[in-house]
Amino acid sequence: MNGPSRVLRAAFKLGLQLTTPLVSRCFLVGYYFRRPWYTFLGAHLSQLPVDMHIYQELIFRTRPSFIVVTGVDQGGALLYFASMLDLIKADPAHLVVGIDIKLTERAAALHHPRIRLIEGSSTDPRVLERVKSMLPPGTGMVALDSDPSRHHVLAELRLYREFVGVGQYLVCQNTSLGHLIPVFKNRGRLAAVRDFLKEDDRFVTDTDIWKRNLISLHHRGWLRRVR
Ligand SMILES: C[S@@+](CC[C@H](N)C(=O)[O-])C[C@H]1O[C@@H](n2cnc3c(N)ncnc32)[C@H](O)[C@@H]1O
Repeated sequence: MNGPSRVLRAAFKLGLQLTTPLVSRCFLVGYYFRRPWYTFLGAHLSQLPVDMHIYQELIFRTRPSFIVVTGVDQGGALLYFASMLDLIKADPAHLVVGIDIKLTERAAALHHPRIRLIEGSSTDPRVLERVKSMLPPGTGMVALDSDPSRHHVLAELRLYREFVGVGQYLVCQNTSLGHLIPVFKNRGRLAAVRDFLKEDDRFVTDTDIWKRNLISLHHRGWLRRVR
């Protein structure tokens, strides 16, 4: 590479590094104001399409034996995960388990052979026992998106981490509010992720996975188990 193009590339890289946080913040402000309505096969999901694309890559790459989701709401994310397992021709025993404190009518009406639903709080020991009894052998992926308070999310991270194998992902969703609004830095999900990473060095934040898109709702919440 000759001199001028090396300088240009370095300048471009620096520009990108400086502008990414700004672009990301501007996007999040717009997103939270507009709260766009996304669907998958007709079922609503509160997820960005770029984040769902990342999930698709992770499912293909890590081939989880199951996917556990806390916070189901309308169930679109569950349907998406189950359809991805179909697309990668996962074993029919490989499941998606969704837990919600109050299942919506739409979620309860979901029909897919891989989807199982549990009504109850995600941190209730009886719910956890039911999850364990439903799961096939192996390890999987977990996506946490229920009660956003710091203590609840930390409790979920501690309870659900054992389902995740080395190389697989424990995703604490919607950490981006903490990134955007200072008051949420020490209250909600982002704070819980910080607490969790201090006590469990088997997990690291995978930032590269979303930075190429400039935006994500889950920011520091993409946690990869490394040992
Ligand atoms: C943001 S919505 C989930 C959105 C969903 N993950 C999606 O992608 O569309 C949060 C859900 O968490 C549920 N929830 C709140 N507290 C809970 C708890 N302690 N245990 C389980 N679910 C809970 C709510 O009932 C609500 O349906």
